[in-house]
Amino acid sequence: MPNSRTVPPSNLAMEDIFLDEDSPKLVEFDANFRTFHLQAGSSQYSFCVDQYGSLEHLYYGNWVGSGHDLTYLSESDPSLTFETAPAGAQFTAGELKRMVEGEENIDSRQLWMLSTHMKSERGGDWHMARVENLTWRLRHLWEGKKEEAPVTASSILKVLERSSVSFREDSAADKADSGTARQSKRVIGARERNQLETESRPGRQGYKCSKLLEVSEFGTGDFRTPSLSVSFRKDGSRLLPLVYKKHQVISGIVPSTSGLPLLGARNRTGAQTLVVDMVDTYTELKVQLLYTLFPDISAVSRRVIVRNSSRLGMGDVDLVKCMSGTFDFLTNDWHLVSLHGGWACERNITTRRLQEGMVQLGSNRGVSSHQMNPFCVLTAGPPCEDHGLCYGFLLLYSGNWLMEVEQTQTGHVRVNVGLSDTHFSWDLGTQQSFESPECICVFSDKGLGGVTSTFHRLINERLIAPRWRDLICPVLINTWEALYFNVEHENIMKLARPAKDVGVELLVMDDGWFVDRNDDTTSLGDWIEDKKKLPRGLNGLAKDLNAMGLKLGIWMEPEMVNKSSVLYQEHPEWVLHHPARVRSEGRNQLVLDLTRSDVQDYIIQSVSNVLGGANIEYLKWDMNRALTDAYSAALPPSQQGEVYHRYVLGLYRIFEAVTLKFPHVLFESCASGGGRFDAALLAWCPQAWCSDNSDAYSRTRIQMGTSMWAPVRCMGAHIAACPSHQTHRTFMMKTRFIVALWGTFGLELDLNKLSREELDEVKELVALRKRLSQLTLHGSFFRLPGFGYPGAAHANSAGIGDSNVYAWMFVAPEQDRAVVSALIFHRDTVGRFPSRLKLRGLRPNLSYDITEHVPTPVAQGVFNGMFQAGGPTFKHQRRLQLSGLVLMEVGVPVHFNFDGDSLLLELTANS
Ligand code: DGJ
Repeated sequence: MPNSRTVPPSNLAMEDIFLDEDSPKLVEFDANFRTFHLQAGSSQYSFCVDQYGSLEHLYYGNWVGSGHDLTYLSESDPSLTFETAPAGAQFTAGELKRMVEGEENIDSRQLWMLSTHMKSERGGDWHMARVENLTWRLRHLWEGKKEEAPVTASSILKVLERSSVSFREDSAADKADSGTARQSKRVIGARERNQLETESRPGRQGYKCSKLLEVSEFGTGDFRTPSLSVSFRKDGSRLLPLVYKKHQVISGIVPSTSGLPLLGARNRTGAQTLVVDMVDTYTELKVQLLYTLFPDISAVSRRVIVRNSSRLGMGDVDLVKCMSGTFDFLTNDWHLVSLHGGWACERNITTRRLQEGMVQLGSNRGVSSHQMNPFCVLTAGPPCEDHGLCYGFLLLYSGNWLMEVEQTQTGHVRVNVGLSDTHFSWDLGTQQSFESPECICVFSDKGLGGVTSTFHRLINERLIAPRWRDLICPVLINTWEALYFNVEHENIMKLARPAKDVGVELLVMDDGWFVDRNDDTTSLGDWIEDKKKLPRGLNGLAKDLNAMGLKLGIWMEPEMVNKSSVLYQEHPEWVLHHPARVRSEGRNQLVLDLTRSDVQDYIIQSVSNVLGGANIEYLKWDMNRALTDAYSAALPPSQQGEVYHRYVLGLYRIFEAVTLKFPHVLFESCASGGGRFDAALLAWCPQAWCSDNSDAYSRTRIQMGTSMWAPVRCMGAHIAACPSHQTHRTFMMKTRFIVALWGTFGLELDLNKLSREELDEVKELVALRKRLSQLTLHGSFFRLPGFGYPGAAHANSAGIGDSNVYAWMFVAPEQDRAVVSALIFHRDTVGRFPSRLKLRGLRPNLSYDITEHVPTPVAQGVFNGMFQAGGPTFKHQRRLQLSGLVLMEVGVPVHFNFDGDSLLLELTANS
């Protein structure tokens, strides 16, 4: 093993390209006010270096321009009574006097600045009550201004002299310095104040608990959950007051040194990154805050690099918490939208109103998890699909993660996004660095729909490998629910023939194809084909499929091993385990120790052997159990807290290596369904299996949630058999088709069990999917809210609440074509009329022809209400031609007749 402490490398490979003068600047630094203005599409993210060197967050909202002094926002924030801050140097009486001397015609704003500045600069003998007292007296003085003489320096000085505040006496040095101090330390006049010394003074940290901050550390008065936490081995101290040191704006992005996926790594056109260096002036430990912006996209990406550049012989540091981004917000009627579930019910939408206290979202399962997804949205007021302020957060990470959403006594809310700190610690040797994964914050003033469209753009344009960007993913058939472990050459060919006939392009041979794998107790790790099942091997199968015009795809679960395997017999030490303890199994399997480079190399080699041995054009990369026994025999005791993160870094290294080697192979990730459906893996696997549950109802709820941030082309969705293998529910083929069309699209059923009529229907549907796929996979996606029966606003057709009615649509970039889907799962009130379905994203003044696809194959008797053989029944009796305006403002009437009824419309603009 190489010295594990060299991973990740200690030197930050900063891309050495400075912004040239001509590029439109996305980051402005206003030196007068020491304020950064980040232009993120139509939004603005502003923060300043306050007088103590902290980074104070000022504003995140619609673009107002970089020419404004927004520091007034911080000055109107009062400190809290009995708040604590380090006692340090305080202004002397002489200094205070010099601040106001010579100023005439002081206005109210200047006066407040003086009082708040003094208030927050108070030191040891600046007693709280006295400061308040002083503040009020200054205020009264101002209020009296109308009647009395103008407020001048001398009137303020009189208040100061009469006040009960005691000042430290000027030292000889202070007195000698008074000439320059006169210029540099006055606080009245915003410009002058912001030209105060840029070097921050240790010990003058100010009062942090009620401030909005960009980074928050332990120990100096911010009692909210911190951004990071370290422990200095030498003295056990954890204090880490950070102050601004310098910053730099570069073109592009700062590449990852540990192999983490980053937005813009594959397409950095126009991207700009602000790197702000924060330092602990006592130990000199450095924390870099990175903000990346992309032109025209209302998103700020953030991450952090911690460098143990500590001096004073502080030695090694244990990094025990390292969040990628801290986002502080002022009081509002905050609501939180997040994605929850479990196996077969992943990413259902949950909403809650925030109250005091902490909401923790996260996973400690070693994978991003079925249970919670590394995504949430903070909304001002109850979440709405098409209006309202929203801040969406997404973490690019596949392992243990954490989102802390904390509402404090002040009503302020902090959102911390990053690695889970449970079971985490990183042994940061002297001069070594640690980098966090990247998190993205998207701003929208147009509700959740705005958050969704920005994430979809970011992922398509900046994350997915360019070679897959415009992919129309092939229509596939997967053998799992058709054959389970009975994947024998002949069975597969028997499935392939009708598949080819209905228009399938790719056959994916799922689990069961390798030596002795007849159930889930054996053989993981031994990636050699089972000659009993595949006498002519993978190569023979690929040849036969290719000869009939089908591609071959394959299933692997490379991170796992069964005890019953040659690999485990040869390398029992290669699994996550503690040598003295029993190893925990899940689905009869153990997890390979991906922190080890020899294990990583084995996996790269075995996957390469499979992919290189036959014409395989697709790989479903599965992972069917969570991590336990997170101990690595290859790491020293001091680094056992690194296992979970190193596992993920190992996984990313493997993906990077195999996708580089086999760039033509399309990877789809999977983890017992959607247990690792995170943005990070999309960097290598442009699609992910959403869930093992393909029941149309469950899937709609799952896909509604997933669509919050994941583009349609990433969501693995198939038509499966009925009754559903997971829920035993039955839906007509049309409804199952509509749900699968809202994803990559495939079949997961035994076509040999379908009737001739059903096969004909599947054939028509596959052809329709091919015709619509450019639009459904690469068009703009909209959830359609407010449609349904009484109470539709609560049980919303766009996915919020327990709805039975859902609707969504896809619109071509030119807005000349669209596909609209709507369905009902439970029609509990016969006779009620639903509201009209209002469309979105169309051009108001274009006229659209509306075609209804796949009419329902039954008719309902008007006089007896009974369903009869008949049809096809169209929802609309005549061909409609309506303007975009009418479709969006007035809407379309849609009546559902029975549980599972659905609608599919195609809109084409008249030229
Ligand atoms: C879990 C996956 O989600 C399924 O689709 C299937 O591939 C099985 N694993 C195979 O073991």
